[in-house]
Amino acid sequence: MLLRPVHDSAADTSAVRAIDAAAFGKPLEGREAARADVRTRRLAAADQPGCWFAEEDGAALGVALSLKREGLWGLALLAVRPEGQGQGLGRTLLDHALSYAHGCLRGMIVASEDPRAARRYHAAGFRLHPTMALSGRVDRTGLPATGGIPVHLGDATHFDLLDSVDRRSRGAAHGEDHLALLRTSDELLVADTLGGSGYCYRLGGRVMLLAATSRRVATALLTETLARIPDVETADVRSATAEQDWAVDVAMAAGLTAATRGYLALRGMKPPTHYLPSGAYL
Ligand SMILES: CC(C)(COP(=O)(O)OP(=O)(O)OC[C@H]1O[C@@H](n2cnc3c(N)ncnc32)[C@H](O)[C@@H]1OP(=O)(O)O)[C@@H](O)C(=O)NCCC(=O)NCCS
Repeated sequence: MLLRPVHDSAADTSAVRAIDAAAFGKPLEGREAARADVRTRRLAAADQPGCWFAEEDGAALGVALSLKREGLWGLALLAVRPEGQGQGLGRTLLDHALSYAHGCLRGMIVASEDPRAARRYHAAGFRLHPTMALSGRVDRTGLPATGGIPVHLGDATHFDLLDSVDRRSRGAAHGEDHLALLRTSDELLVADTLGGSGYCYRLGGRVMLLAATSRRVATALLTETLARIPDVETADVRSATAEQDWAVDVAMAAGLTAATRGYLALRGMKPPTHYLPSGAYL
């Protein structure tokens, strides 16, 4: 087996997409595929020492993509083709990606329900927090009012505010990841009041990332985001741990269904309370 860095190139981006599709048994399509490609190129360019392919006879069998932001290390993707699974490739890829975590006190992974992944992350010192997926058609009549917190559309002029919210809520700014998130979302909603601030990215029915400095603002942002999901789309809120009970309250009021799915794997930190992570940029 040979390990080599992932490059910011069209060829490596399609190789990552092919491994992802084979490992998860479902090819990404449309805007989800475009979003994954933007993530791959962004991380290969900005975090190359954290992005690795495992190759066998010249063919890429597995991939790890990780990032480092202000003392926080995050794993954006770990995937091995089915024919290569269970032979230690995942362990080797994770070890290499983790060597990029040097100097980071905190780590975050939005983990799938695969027991092999859970085993790997636990062995690497991550604590597993079970997460809920909240989904379904939004019942607008059940949604609460936003509690007098004004929520408005945001753009790149809000990035400094977003970084400040990130530092308060997850302990590290997203920096230029915000540009990638903005490019690959339908909209960015922002709340900035004397009582607190926050933001939320939405793509179709999916809540991509939500961060806030208070429960009230987080609740208002999720409420407004769900209210804006087009009728044809299914709402999809992921990675809520028990600490995000405010998100469960909003989702239940909106008629969504809760199911347990995967883990938020954390090292050196507790689940950020007013926060719903992005799997790609965490
Ligand atoms: C998760 C994944 C990346 C792991 O890669 P891998 O090469 O298969 O993993 P490894 O062979 O290095 O390690 C697997 C570990 O799980 C253990 N394992 C295998 N089957 C298991 C099971 N059913 N339950 C628990 N542990 C299991 C193995 O014994 C091994 O642990 P050990 O090294 O301590 O003995 C890979 O299986 C995969 O791509 N899965 C589908 C996509 C996915 O869910 N990715 C994770 C996203 S967060």
